[in-house]
Amino acid sequence: MEARCDPWILRGRVLCPRPDRPAFEVLEDALVRVGADGRIAGVEAAPADCAVPVTRPGAVWLPGFVDTHVHFPQTRVLGSASGPLLEWLATSVFPEEARFVDRAYAAAVAEEFCAALLRHGTTCASVYSSSDPGATEVLFAALDRAGLRGQVGLTLMDRGAPEAVLLAAEPALAACEALAARWHGHDDGRLAFCVTPRFALSCTPALLRGAAALADRLDLPVQTHLSENPAELAATAAAFPDSADYVAVYADHGLLGPRALFAHCVHLTDGEWDALAAHDCAISHCPDSNFFLGSGVMPLRAALERTLRVGLGTDVGAGRTFSLRRVAAAAYDAALLSGTAITPEALLWHATLGGARALRLDGRIGRVAPGFEADLVACDLPPHVVDRAALFDALAFRRDDAAVGAVYVRGRRLRGG
Ligand code: GUN
Ligand code: ZN
Repeated sequence: MEARCDPWILRGRVLCPRPDRPAFEVLEDALVRVGADGRIAGVEAAPADCAVPVTRPGAVWLPGFVDTHVHFPQTRVLGSASGPLLEWLATSVFPEEARFVDRAYAAAVAEEFCAALLRHGTTCASVYSSSDPGATEVLFAALDRAGLRGQVGLTLMDRGAPEAVLLAAEPALAACEALAARWHGHDDGRLAFCVTPRFALSCTPALLRGAAALADRLDLPVQTHLSENPAELAATAAAFPDSADYVAVYADHGLLGPRALFAHCVHLTDGEWDALAAHDCAISHCPDSNFFLGSGVMPLRAALERTLRVGLGTDVGAGRTFSLRRVAAAAYDAALLSGTAITPEALLWHATLGGARALRLDGRIGRVAPGFEADLVACDLPPHVVDRAALFDALAFRRDDAAVGAVYVRGRRLRGG
């Protein structure tokens, strides 16, 4: 993948996420200069006599969406209605994930997966692969060819699932180390390896401890599922009787810390929220998945009032969409149901800069500002969408009339004109 792009200038309506609060600065007619290194060199108001043509008339530009939680091997079973969680995993997920030992199958789905991310304006994703190292290699290569950004983990599971998807702790951790050596930091940090124990129930204590040790030794990010469903909570408490609660299971095995990203967090106690905050963990909020599996409603307020870093996750295939905008709409509904409303503007911030923060990439992406990498999307809005509130409403709720038109990563166009 060529690292450089031709320098270019974007002219248009640009939404710049603010670094100080979950909101955007709206630039009605801006010039964004993109350098040959794919970084933003300047952002300024277009002068009255500006000779640069508008890049995409009718479009609004914003940073690419960051999906903080998505399962590559669930692409073809997205929206398979066999929930709740544990039944859905057994019926719809594990048989499909077993197919990824076939490299040709994995390669075909990897192409579909990358195309789906791009179609919805996702430029960066935190991805669970299957438990097969070969499939994970194939996925990294596909993301690299597509020009996408992200972190990917071999999904670690050495118990609690059919034999066909299990991999024992020792070979699994050796495979993680080999994948990290090959891909972590690839192309100046565009791709990264993420240590990914599926969830406590699918890992022996030895595997959880080994995963934490590997992440510490190689300074790798960590992702897993946490407190999604009542039956899962009961089974986890039974499997780890020495740990005080679900968060303590991960803490007791060395997995809490600023590199850790926890998906769901639907049923946490105040004490568990406090522990996540004390360790500066990040949260992936996946409301569309939570609705589909009937898991419950994550109290977003509990995370935000503790200033935890929160990104949005599609959680495909329990999530029924690759669209972070649709997830933002689900998060709006979830927030109302949990008793504390949040604006579509704030949710779109969590889908962009908030996600970058959750992945600790906010030094490079998530803003439209000098020095940041030019990961940008254009959404084509109908001409009557003029004022500020209508703009964010249209992006979150009127997706049928406001398609993602163009997608750039590091200044290179990956989709659209
Ligand atoms: N918990 C463990 N594995 C999974 C998964 O694949 N999807 C969801 N939503 N929850 C999980
Ligand atoms: Zn998930």
